[in-house]
Amino acid sequence: MIEMQDVYKTYPNGVMALSGINVRIKQGEFVYVVGPSGAGKSTFIKMMYREEKPTSGSIMINGVNLAKLKDSKVPLLRRHIGVVFQDFKLLPKLTVYENVAFALEVIEESPKNIKKRVMEVLDLVGLKHKARFYPDELSGGEQQRVSIARSIVNSPKIVIADEPTGNLDPDTSWGIMDLFEEINNRGTTIVMATHNREIVNTIKKRVIAIENGKIVRDEARGEYGYDS
Ligand SMILES: Nc1ncnc2c1ncn2[C@@H]1O[C@H](COP(=O)(O)OP(=O)(O)OP(=O)(O)O)[C@@H](O)[C@H]1O
Ligand SMILES: [Mg+2]
Repeated sequence: MIEMQDVYKTYPNGVMALSGINVRIKQGEFVYVVGPSGAGKSTFIKMMYREEKPTSGSIMINGVNLAKLKDSKVPLLRRHIGVVFQDFKLLPKLTVYENVAFALEVIEESPKNIKKRVMEVLDLVGLKHKARFYPDELSGGEQQRVSIARSIVNSPKIVIADEPTGNLDPDTSWGIMDLFEEINNRGTTIVMATHNREIVNTIKKRVIAIENGKIVRDEARGEYGYDS
């Protein structure tokens, strides 16, 4: 369902961040993307939600080539792919409830159904009782749970996360991983860039290692494999 063919990415400053990437990720897979700093993990991930376009090559997601997707179609794509960031990216002036509702694709939905769906995902992440709180009234782990709720509110088939536990302490990180596993168990594909060796080596999943813009390893139940 996600397929990259011969993907190259050179940034305008001349840095070649990805070269010759070929990968296929099936619906329902859970994939870690690992590798040294500057290897190209975030660039790889950004290709999948069209934050960046490849310089050449194709990225097919459910039959759509993101390399050729019109800019005007990008918002529609984003509603079908949940994205979670290291720094949460919540809107500070909106409540928890509003942050999640804001992301909801509202097509002929009654206010009652919208509320039902938002509260459903807040319940899943364990934050129903904080629906009226503002982001700065929450801990880092709680903020990340809100951003996960936001990422799944439209029931996307894919959730992409770039170092979602990067700003969190170990205990909180395990809680966040439980959530991702729960979402994956419901059939959602997860692609997650991470530097968290312990998580990768404990919750065994497919591991794609990127170094110098190339995939150097791709294992079904892989290890983190770096010393630091
Ligand atoms: N917008 C940009 N413009 C120019 N160069 C960039 C840009 N974004 C990333 N790069 C460069 O592309 C390369 C890959 O960067 P990328 O952010 O994908 O690495 P990464 O593996 O995610 O690293 P980290 O683990 O530190 O997050 C690096 O050399 C980086 O400096
Ligand atoms: Mg990165």
